[in-house]
Amino acid sequence: MIASISLRNGQYFPMTNVLHITRADIYRGLNKVFDNLNLCIPVGQNTAIIGPNGAGKTTLLKTISRDLYPHLRDGGAMQIFGQSSWNVWELRKRLGIVSLDLQQNFNPVTAGAGIVRTGFFSSLANFSHQKLTETQIRIADQRMEELGIKELRDRKFLKMSTGEQRRFLLARALVTDPDALILDEPTTGMDLPTKFQYLDTVARLIAQGKTIIIVTHHIDEIPPSIEHIVLLKSGHVMIEGSKRDVLNGQNLTKLFDVPIRVVEEDGWYRALPG
Ligand SMILES: Nc1ncnc2c1ncn2[C@@H]1O[C@H](COP(=O)(O)OP(=O)(O)O)[C@@H](O)[C@H]1O
Ligand SMILES: [Mg+2]
Repeated sequence: MIASISLRNGQYFPMTNVLHITRADIYRGLNKVFDNLNLCIPVGQNTAIIGPNGAGKTTLLKTISRDLYPHLRDGGAMQIFGQSSWNVWELRKRLGIVSLDLQQNFNPVTAGAGIVRTGFFSSLANFSHQKLTETQIRIADQRMEELGIKELRDRKFLKMSTGEQRRFLLARALVTDPDALILDEPTTGMDLPTKFQYLDTVARLIAQGKTIIIVTHHIDEIPPSIEHIVLLKSGHVMIEGSKRDVLNGQNLTKLFDVPIRVVEEDGWYRALPG
């Protein structure tokens, strides 16, 4: 992977990896979820992280977003965009996250436009001291327009469908023009047209040069443009590699502990009972 360079606030940042973690143990409370985790996701390597319930997907995501801190073994390290330490607020502007956790934490009476605008402050609510510039208001409007949700800008969050809420959260994550986006179970609860529209948006973001990391247990929600697969099982990377090499019946059978067949059509994959 060729290192790219990103210009932010007049400063150049070398960007080689979104995430590089070596020799890490990660706990939830007293429960050790990851034992000696090693994982590297280079910038530009669009990745799907797949695993059954309890595999550690959300734990990994919370580690990347700095909500959880790993215990590093001797010689271990964790870097995000090449840096070991981060101001979490700055990090959240470079690395957008859309998750169910986030969806459930917003004040349900906030209007759509308000939700999108919180993205500039990485906050969960609009506070009176947070003054938006005209440019920021314009960018927020633009993102809603691009995601087809502008008409819902005044609707309260609780009065939106799951798919609409998810699109507002994506618009929110995009206002700071992040380099990478992590989408946790992005299409859960969506009907087919909404799901297709969402996946189309993901493909468009990839085409625009964003690195997308999708965390899921549904292999049918991985757009063809996501080519790298990480299979997580019980707190370790069972196998990773290209979609063609990794997404097969043998590996998924081992991952989910039930017989599974995999079919592929036009770059889309589907799991069937084996
Ligand atoms: N707050 C918590 N305290 C203790 N254990 C937890 C907590 N949250 C999750 N776990 C455990 O950590 C493991 C990984 O959970 P999680 O990362 O949520 O898995 P996934 O997102 O892949 O379903 C599971 O065994 C789960 O029971
Ligand atoms: Mg989870």
